[in-house]
Amino acid sequence: MPQTINVLFLAAEAEPFVKVGGLGDVAGSLPHFLRKLSNAEIKFDVRLVLPQHSVIKVEAPKPAGIYSIPRGGAEIGVEAVESTLGGLPVYFINGDPIRASGSVYSSNNKLDAEKYVFFSLAALELPRHLDWTPDILHCNDWHTALAAYGNLVKRWEDKKNRIASIVTIHNLPFLGPDVKEILEAYGVPLANTDLPDWARVMPMPLGLWASDAIVAVSPTYAEEILHEEFGCGLQEFFRNRTETLRGILNGLDTASFDPHTDSALAANFTAETLALRSKNKTALQERVGLPVNADIPLLGMVSRMDPQKGVDIALKGLRLLKKHNWQLVLLGAGNPKLETMAKKLQEALPDRVRVETRFDAKLARQIYAGSDIFLMPSRYEPCGLSQMIAMRYGSVPLVRAVGGLHDTVTDSETGFVFVDAKVKSFNDALRRALEILPSHARWEVMQTAGMAQDFGWQASAQKYAELYKKLAQETHETYQKPIEAPKRKIREERIDLEPTEGENG
Ligand code: GLC
Repeated sequence: MPQTINVLFLAAEAEPFVKVGGLGDVAGSLPHFLRKLSNAEIKFDVRLVLPQHSVIKVEAPKPAGIYSIPRGGAEIGVEAVESTLGGLPVYFINGDPIRASGSVYSSNNKLDAEKYVFFSLAALELPRHLDWTPDILHCNDWHTALAAYGNLVKRWEDKKNRIASIVTIHNLPFLGPDVKEILEAYGVPLANTDLPDWARVMPMPLGLWASDAIVAVSPTYAEEILHEEFGCGLQEFFRNRTETLRGILNGLDTASFDPHTDSALAANFTAETLALRSKNKTALQERVGLPVNADIPLLGMVSRMDPQKGVDIALKGLRLLKKHNWQLVLLGAGNPKLETMAKKLQEALPDRVRVETRFDAKLARQIYAGSDIFLMPSRYEPCGLSQMIAMRYGSVPLVRAVGGLHDTVTDSETGFVFVDAKVKSFNDALRRALEILPSHARWEVMQTAGMAQDFGWQASAQKYAELYKKLAQETHETYQKPIEAPKRKIREERIDLEPTEGENG
């Protein structure tokens, strides 16, 4: 019998059920790749849990449990159904707080707070109704981080509970709303933590504090959050947790993102048939109505319109580089101010700029395959997937040296990298790129270097698997010994002790 590690994987979104951003890509792929690592010695029984958002239509749902969780004097009903996707069991949790909010993420903090506290606590109860006990509870971002906190509270109440928890940070600035009153209503005590006061009532900090391991989605982001610029006020806390904090770079679904087989492209190609790629540039220029000309550098951008992504830096920079020859196709929706700013550039330079403010997965792929240079001037970027797709599709990325961009793009080898989040630095890098682009041989060396990189999930999933094994082993050992390991004891005591000054976690 192989050793089995049971993993309950919690996320607010996952492809193909529902996707808003990069979290949906990761939660849609990683569980499958983890299951695939099972072999004769070890089996990873990973199961995904999602809120049953109103946009989700579950195919062939099987009842998985009807239960309730106490809130105030009442009970809130939970309905859980099960479905499978390519062998992966997927559970959908529903209940009034989930039905009350029409969208995946609401602009109403109160609705979101109720929804995700409910989801996290209900998901934590789910295994009891499945006759299946997780060894690992894997939470992602603030929406599900409270499950890690709830798990620690349970462990504190029931010493037999040996479920280890991981919180993966995909986007730290989203710490979640103040949930003090909601937690109180659910009877979940608020611990005295070594978190800053303001953070003690927020889902992400509480989950991070309670978790046995913290993962950032790239090694550089794991290092950046130790400092004020990226730490969102939690840098001190992270510095006290460097032993349990690590960075694991996200992978890419290389079967889906493959220029050799992608049906969205005008012409499929590989590094060996790179000459065919130019057909995609022509097709893209035609599709968006820009002058069709192979010699005009075509810049591509596929991005949420968000200050995080530095869209404004690129737009301002390009306005200043009017004398250079270039075209821009920008696909992305979000912040209305940024959308307007982009539209204004299009109005000012109608024969060079096309802005499409919507989601369009097919056009996105055509931009990766048809652009010469892919722009990603992010202010911060925990991992970033677009730069990896761009490289795989032969578009040379121009990125800021932050987070996962720093870990995946090498200046002058696979792309162009600039350091300061300033228009001038962006423009210096773009000028460098525009100078090299006409020397086709040199450009091709960069394109093929990018295309040769391995961005598959295999390596990342392996790192998560190692972490699962380590945590499962540690919690098992702790369970064997009546006296608990010092690290865990310190954390559990924190629940009823005020932290002493200068104490490390
Ligand atoms: C968030 C981050 C992005 C990361 C993604 C998946 O969207 O902004 O950098 O790639 O999560 O982890």
